[in-house]
Amino acid sequence: MDEVAKARMAQVLHHRKAGLNLGDPVVPPISVATTFHLPEAQGAAHYYGRSGQPTWDAVETQLAILEAAEVVSFPSGMAAISAALICCLKAGARVMIPSDGYYVTRLLGRDLLQVYGVEVVEVPTLEMVAAEFTGFDVVYIETPSNPALDVIDIAAIATRAHAAGAMVIADNTTMTPLLQRPLDLGADLVVAADTKAPAGHSDALFGHVAGRDAVLMARIREWRRQSGAVPGPFEAYLVHRGIETLEVRLARMCENAAVIAERLAAHPAVSGLRYPGREADPAHTVARRQMVNGGFLIGFELANEDTAEAFLTNCPLIEQATSFGGVHTAAERRARWGDAVAPGFIRLSIGVEPLEVLWSAIEAALPSGKS
Ligand SMILES: Cc1ncc(COP(=O)(O)O)c(C=O)c1O
Repeated sequence: MDEVAKARMAQVLHHRKAGLNLGDPVVPPISVATTFHLPEAQGAAHYYGRSGQPTWDAVETQLAILEAAEVVSFPSGMAAISAALICCLKAGARVMIPSDGYYVTRLLGRDLLQVYGVEVVEVPTLEMVAAEFTGFDVVYIETPSNPALDVIDIAAIATRAHAAGAMVIADNTTMTPLLQRPLDLGADLVVAADTKAPAGHSDALFGHVAGRDAVLMARIREWRRQSGAVPGPFEAYLVHRGIETLEVRLARMCENAAVIAERLAAHPAVSGLRYPGREADPAHTVARRQMVNGGFLIGFELANEDTAEAFLTNCPLIEQATSFGGVHTAAERRARWGDAVAPGFIRLSIGVEPLEVLWSAIEAALPSGKS
């Protein structure tokens, strides 16, 4: 963790202190109220549960500290992504999105944005570096991309996009604001699935949009009110609790991942390993500039679908699940969802298990040689 992230994390842990009165609970209560005492219509902090409520406030304050920006929370990462795109686009606008990023974002482009008259152009993450941005209203990036873990230079994209009159929206899900700060690098909005590492225990869907333009953030807040895409108070509480341990979980996960990536890369059954934290990774030079470390995700190939499925089945310390960022190490073959990757490609999300116990289980489940 760098010094900026450490300072923000410490502030996150004590963000409620200044507002506490004698005897108040240290942790935020789960507020389930949909209505608030309103003898007058003006001046109340809250007036109706769809517009805002205290448990959202608590988690939004944490995220606002980590992002150094205004934050609007949503019931999932996709709700945050759709809010950001809908608020920045209108009929006749053009948006560039990665053809190799999270596939549901592409579906949103095809099934919603295009239907409403937005032109959606899909470009592979690595080709965005040199793509022409003239005529685009929004350049949407995801870095490192899920699942291939390609990395794009956020500052360079932001400079060129702004020169061409386009805004930049960055999906920071694979990193979290502790490991990468796209707003500091020039992105206009960050979107993220807090379902992943921030919640961290695979038990809450949540998302947020962060930005420093008050007018745009007010539009996003108003979109939440009008669409009704609101987080639940229990989820907000769980994410608040998750964020309190985000830094210590990430430290273990990323340290584990760095070691396991090296060991996997040296294994004869493994090919095409991607981990942006490895010096040998094609993304390493850019990754070093903008990421605090290599993260907790590793991509690699085994010989074919059967070999990959056998590995996943045989490893008792890998959950066969379709998410990442949780405390439990988890993995899956991404080709089963139609991602453009080899049939034996595995996305591995490293958890907080003790390193050598985890590695022994992974090593024992791998084929002994090239299969
Ligand atoms: C990079 C990325 N962005 C966004 C999302 C969507 O998040 P959610 O499942 O919370 O809607 C995901 C989900 O896997 C993701 O991987």
